[in-house]
Amino acid sequence: MKNIVLIGMMGCGKTTVGGLLAARLGRELADTDAWVEAREGRTIAQIFADEGETYFRDRERDAAAELARRQDLVIACGGGLPLRPDSIGCLKESGVVFWLDRDPGETYDALDTGGRPLAQDGRAAFVDRYRQRASVYRACADYIIQGAESAQAAADAVVERLARKEEDQ
Ligand code: S3P
Repeated sequence: MKNIVLIGMMGCGKTTVGGLLAARLGRELADTDAWVEAREGRTIAQIFADEGETYFRDRERDAAAELARRQDLVIACGGGLPLRPDSIGCLKESGVVFWLDRDPGETYDALDTGGRPLAQDGRAAFVDRYRQRASVYRACADYIIQGAESAQAAADAVVERLARKEEDQ
């Protein structure tokens, strides 16, 4: 079966929603950030500090290419992964892409900014980053889960959407 690919801003719940989906659907959860950290043997923050963002994005592309070769996964993508067409392209081919879209201000207020190098400049910068990325997320997404009240509600919406998709086919 096709992969389920979750995209969206830092803190929008990709990993939490991905965990709920994986448990509910009996799939494995893969997380591109965790994949890169395991491969590199250091944290995202360390990779950014030591090597810079371009190096990290290249490793993110490696994660995408590797995970896209597999099936039946729920894949939680790092928030910036869709910015690189060569990263999101293969994942999109391998699965169905859901954008977990939440109000960026509320997302920031609930965000643990520790360990997130691109969330260090405050709320306004975070909201700005969301605005810059929104059109990319929209273009990549097969479906948009808008403003879900909770991770459980977002997971329910994904499952419902997938069931409707199967009915349509
Ligand atoms: C990033 C999001 C992070 C991580 C890195 C960069 C981004 O992942 O990949 O810090 O550019 O939005 P999460 O979305 O899981 O926080």
